[in-house]
Amino acid sequence: MESVLTSPAVDRRAVVSLFSRLRTPSGQANPLPFYDELRSMGDVVPAPWGGYLITSYGLCDRVLRDRAWGVPDSEWRARQGEATRWSAASSREMSRTLPALNPPHHTRVRRSLGNMFDRKGMADIKDAIEESVDQLLDRLAEKLRTDGEADFSALVSDELPMHAIGSWLQLPPADYPYLRALAHDQVFTQELLPSTSQLALSDSATGQLQAYFRELVQERRRAPGNDPVSGWLRTWDALESDREAADEAVYLLALLVFLAAPETTSTMLSTMVWLLLEHPRQFGWLRAHPDHVPDAVEEVLRYDSPNHIISRVAPEDTMLAGVPIEKDRMVHLMIGAANHDPRHHLDPGVFDIRRKAAHLSFSSGIHYCLGAPLARLEATTLLTALLGRLPGLQVGTPPVWAPRVGFRRITELRVVPS
Ligand code: HEM
Repeated sequence: MESVLTSPAVDRRAVVSLFSRLRTPSGQANPLPFYDELRSMGDVVPAPWGGYLITSYGLCDRVLRDRAWGVPDSEWRARQGEATRWSAASSREMSRTLPALNPPHHTRVRRSLGNMFDRKGMADIKDAIEESVDQLLDRLAEKLRTDGEADFSALVSDELPMHAIGSWLQLPPADYPYLRALAHDQVFTQELLPSTSQLALSDSATGQLQAYFRELVQERRRAPGNDPVSGWLRTWDALESDREAADEAVYLLALLVFLAAPETTSTMLSTMVWLLLEHPRQFGWLRAHPDHVPDAVEEVLRYDSPNHIISRVAPEDTMLAGVPIEKDRMVHLMIGAANHDPRHHLDPGVFDIRRKAAHLSFSSGIHYCLGAPLARLEATTLLTALLGRLPGLQVGTPPVWAPRVGFRRITELRVVPS
């Protein structure tokens, strides 16, 4: 049983100041001291904007696994009122997608997706990913040769996940830059405290993605093929007698799967390269022990997960670590902090690719990430190829992070040859 530390009488200003500092470039470069500070305030910290911040691994894991806790679904969002961020068009549209559904609706929709990346699915996509990695590293090597440096995030990390999900969904490669730009903007509605202008960007991106994926569904209706969207149409035609409702369900699946994939995976790939180049002895050791590549990827996910916050809503008046939480209150599970909880991980601040530690970076419970096998395959394929082709790679200048709290993003990672 983990011991709990709780101090509900937290100074509100201290939490506000902590989050402002977390958004600065130094906070983004290393959020860990801020998470230590937050954890020292308690396992359950009242959030100044309402709701609670949960900092301990044990509690985050417990809430995620407890089926009684819900996600902020459309009814919950409507209850927050018209004047709130929850009524923005982007938020309303997200509330119709899988991660914002509660059972029994969630169960039905999740089942309809099937096991997207089972053994056969992974075998089908493996060759395409290996080919993309080879091409992207060719371009990186060429840029390093001609310019003496290159932006790894733009040339590789932003590209590979787009190629992976684009080829899996069979989207035209010419559309990738447009879709990637929309994904960057759309994510703001899922951020912790989006500004009005960020919400406007997200609303606009959501509208464009809606048009794009609705049209895609109609195309696959007209010419069904051997692709996931055509497969979901077959599934939903059997589930729904109303064809328009089936089309709408499939559009929401395609939209969500697309949105869930590139943003998170790009961050993971850049973070992986940054952390390993910052730890050259471990990078070198990995070269001699490539069978530990999957362990290295898991440690990257634990050490700096692409997503640092997952939110849930209290199903009734309840207690968490001795703190009363009122029904309908939102709790922010601080996954980035929980993955560094010293009561769960020995020396959590030490990056150690051999640690084989559990993490919550793909969530837990009924909303566990359905794309985890694909994300892991992209990371292991890229890392294996890098070790073989560019073992002397070094960081040129420290990375640049976008000022976000929930969804991490490295916007620039300049690398140089040895
Ligand atoms: C490193 C990359 C990724 C990370 C860190 C990540 C993280 C997550 C997390 C934390 C959740 C659960 C949110 C919650 O519990 O409320 C989630 C859900 C989901 N992810 Fe991922 N994800 C990644 C990549 C992907 C990819 C590549 C795909 C698809 C190809 C994908 C598809 C999904 C889907 C469909 C869900 C919704 C599951 C549900 O609500 O039942 N993810 N992901």
